[in-house]
Amino acid sequence: MFTLIILLLVKRKTLANAIRITELLNQTGTKRRSSPPIVLGGGVSCDLVGFACSIYRRGIPYIRIPTTLLGMVDVSVAAKTAVNHFGFRNRLGSFHPASNTLLYPGFLNTLAVRHVSNGLAEVFKIALIKSKYLLDLLDAHGEKFFKSGFETNSYISEIIYIAAELMSEELAPNLWEHNLKRIVDYGHSFSPLIEMTYIDELLHGEAVAVDCLYSAILSQQRNMLNEDQVYKIFDIAKKLRLPLYHRGFSDEKLVLAALDDTKIHRDGNQNLPLMCTLGEAVFINDLTEEEMRNASKSLQNYSAIVDMDEKQA
Ligand SMILES: NC(=O)c1ccc[n+]([C@@H]2O[C@H](COP(=O)([O-])OP(=O)(O)OC[C@H]3O[C@@H](n4cnc5c(N)ncnc54)[C@H](O)[C@@H]3O)[C@@H](O)[C@H]2O)c1
Ligand SMILES: [Zn+2]
Repeated sequence: MFTLIILLLVKRKTLANAIRITELLNQTGTKRRSSPPIVLGGGVSCDLVGFACSIYRRGIPYIRIPTTLLGMVDVSVAAKTAVNHFGFRNRLGSFHPASNTLLYPGFLNTLAVRHVSNGLAEVFKIALIKSKYLLDLLDAHGEKFFKSGFETNSYISEIIYIAAELMSEELAPNLWEHNLKRIVDYGHSFSPLIEMTYIDELLHGEAVAVDCLYSAILSQQRNMLNEDQVYKIFDIAKKLRLPLYHRGFSDEKLVLAALDDTKIHRDGNQNLPLMCTLGEAVFINDLTEEEMRNASKSLQNYSAIVDMDEKQA
């Protein structure tokens, strides 16, 4: 016997919504072990139900069936659950892995284009720091995600499978995050506060994508990437229909506050993953405000040039 929780319409990861889910679990007489709730929905629903299950009776098992691309390539392999709180992303949460996760790409059939791109942002992220092969696949075949019948295309399955595998390779040995130097935090250094500040206009993956581009520019400033490589990265982001710029990344105070909050999350260190070449990353701990200011300006310039190139093509 299972408790099926379908939450496709839940938009916000709030504590109040998580408490409502625990009320449902209580009303339906969910057993401590043998009637695990099944959550069928996007990352918001999976995070909410996971969090509710982690606090209900101090933790009950649950089964996850992610229905978005982001859910399939990222949430599916994660042990974390959370709700947004105090104006910050994922500020209250727990480590509570699902007892089972089922993946069915057929769900992508009905997903809005913007949410397909949103999921591709996490694929883009893992490719940039861990796999030149996956980056080349995105370059050559990423646009197929926007063609009809894409969910049965073999390149699409390969891209989804490789992305989830690479994510789990990084997460599995450090599931409880005792080590706070995590290359999967690439794209998640400046974006969390910017995403929360613009929560009504930026999706998670969109904020992550712009952070990935901003961070690529930081790499270029340190001569770890050349200009051609940065243009290639912007071009791939464009093919994946990701935003190349957001004004939040030009707001000096906001970007600094974002890094400050990230430092607290990383126990006082920047532990900033940056690309050292396409498909590989290193950590730095000495990013300066001047580098950040320069990167903000360059981000605007690069995105304007790539947009213009596309219009002229
Ligand atoms: N636990 C983790 O480690 C982890 C990792 C990455 C992201 N996340 C979280 O995931 C959340 C984002 O998830 P998301 O991008 O899936 O957003 P989402 O859950 O809001 O889903 C996006 C939209 O698509 C709709 N939808 C879902 N499946 C659909 C389908 N098959 N067809 C049509 N519409 C569908 C939803 O109703 C929603 O409107 C963020 O809150 C982020 O913090 C968590
Ligand atoms: Zn993410």
